[in-house]
Amino acid sequence: GGVPVLAVDGPTASGKGTLAAELAHQLGYHLLDSGALYRATALAAQDAGISLEDEPALAELAARLELRFTGHQVFLAGRDITDPLRLESTGGMASRVSVHPAVRKALHALQLSFRRAPGLVADGRDMGTVVFPEADLKVFLTASADARAERRYKQLISKGNSANIDSLRADLQMRDERDKNRAVAPLKPAEDAMLLDNSHLSVEASVEKVLGWWQQRR
Ligand code: C5P
Repeated sequence: GGVPVLAVDGPTASGKGTLAAELAHQLGYHLLDSGALYRATALAAQDAGISLEDEPALAELAARLELRFTGHQVFLAGRDITDPLRLESTGGMASRVSVHPAVRKALHALQLSFRRAPGLVADGRDMGTVVFPEADLKVFLTASADARAERRYKQLISKGNSANIDSLRADLQMRDERDKNRAVAPLKPAEDAMLLDNSHLSVEASVEKVLGWWQQRR
């Protein structure tokens, strides 16, 4: 009961972020981009010169993150980190930070605090399995490695960055392996998750599909 939650989990560049943002917009719900919390922790560690292996120091940082989300911008201790947050290299660092159980624990309460009326769409790797196991609907979004690498490639190019599709595909696969094989909260569908492969679906079609499930559940 309580404030409804729609959980969207899946691998890197599966289109979770776009789908979750569109769902939140259409439902008029709050949005939790949980990956941003791990990314921000990684950036804070980089700034403070803390090693990505130093679990206690990272957990301490995570517990005291001064993050502010305003529209499309993200601030860390007052600094605009919107652009560095989205870098591929930051995603890679986040994946290394996120293997540490103490870091995951430190970010747990912060993630729960996003659950406010009238509802929440939460996007990540363990939204349906660990953080919101009682979510009203759990979607596990996948897409082929080729489709994901191509999307990420187009995203980067459209922002004026340079990119190489083969190294992108290799990076995505490496990150997926690390996310799937970690001991705590590994990437996997919840038992009661609805699986959606969007390799050949438009964003609009994916949104329609999930909204249909949502209406049936509620
Ligand atoms: O989704 P995004 O690419 O922003 O996530 C960055 C990294 O943060 C992921 O590769 C994953 O290792 C970690 N993460 C996680 N649990 C979440 C969200 C992200 O471990 N709920």
